[in-house]
Amino acid sequence: MRVYLTRRLPGESQRRLEQALSVDTWPEPVPPPREELLRGLAEADGMLCLLTDQVDALLLEMAPRLRVISVMAVGYNNVDVPAATRRGILVTHTPGVLTETTADLAFALILAISRRIVEGDRFTRSGNWQTWDPSLLLGRDVHGAVLGLAGFGRIAQAVARRARGFDMTILYHDTRRLPVEEVSLGTEFVSLPELLSRSDFVSLHVPLTPATRGMIGEAELALMRPDAFLINTARGEVVDEAALYRALASGRLAGAGLDVYAREPVDAAHPLLTLDNVVALPHVGSATRATRVRMADLAVDNLLAGLSGTRPPHPVNPEVLGG
Ligand code: GLV
Repeated sequence: MRVYLTRRLPGESQRRLEQALSVDTWPEPVPPPREELLRGLAEADGMLCLLTDQVDALLLEMAPRLRVISVMAVGYNNVDVPAATRRGILVTHTPGVLTETTADLAFALILAISRRIVEGDRFTRSGNWQTWDPSLLLGRDVHGAVLGLAGFGRIAQAVARRARGFDMTILYHDTRRLPVEEVSLGTEFVSLPELLSRSDFVSLHVPLTPATRGMIGEAELALMRPDAFLINTARGEVVDEAALYRALASGRLAGAGLDVYAREPVDAAHPLLTLDNVVALPHVGSATRATRVRMADLAVDNLLAGLSGTRPPHPVNPEVLGG
């Protein structure tokens, strides 16, 4: 069996895979170009890829032996899952192991944007700090504020647990109501418009799907209060970035904490990056050493199980397993 890896894996996972199978690894620190992906997949039985690798129907057609696609991420919007399913190819992902780490980062963005942490750092280094000033870098309180969670999956629930420690009022919206988690986390289920209009912080925790693409656009941003903040650690395409820029630049929205963008890497000249009321990170929600090792391990477990015909820990399209 041959597998193609689109990047070297952290920790012991690379070695574990190499001991079990014949492994072809793209050696560069940037994603393989399309023709390299085509070359790598021409003979591969399995693939381990990242969210940066577009795996579409055409690519799958050119991969006649492919049985398993293991994505080292919780989000798998980079893979055409219906096309994979039609071809009987199993797709897997790595949920769970990154939940707490990503929730930490969402909360870090909440604190950073409201307490002007990044602006403050820049100011301290600038040499312009003259004295303790009663009106220097005034921000907004996080404790006691209203947090709106758009999407109420694992990561949103982990954010809610943190918010409880800050005495926040927690609202959530999801396609379905989750009565058990709703009660145990002390949250309130509301419609999306109500969530947008009541929250001091709106934090996005939905997967990218046709239904959520552009879910936060001009109309939704207009429902948010001018003193509210938007936090996005999910996927950039959930938000209409041009509309977000207009809202932030015109003062119709107080600020945004962003870890994800419609196009990544985001262009350094992107209008959003010109604004002081934006804290911008380079898609690092799950980026701690321990979590990345766990994600790589789980991606390898998924791949090995899928190739050996046993049920992997996290299948996305278990229907291809049959029985
Ligand atoms: C990161 O964005 C992931 O989906 O794991």
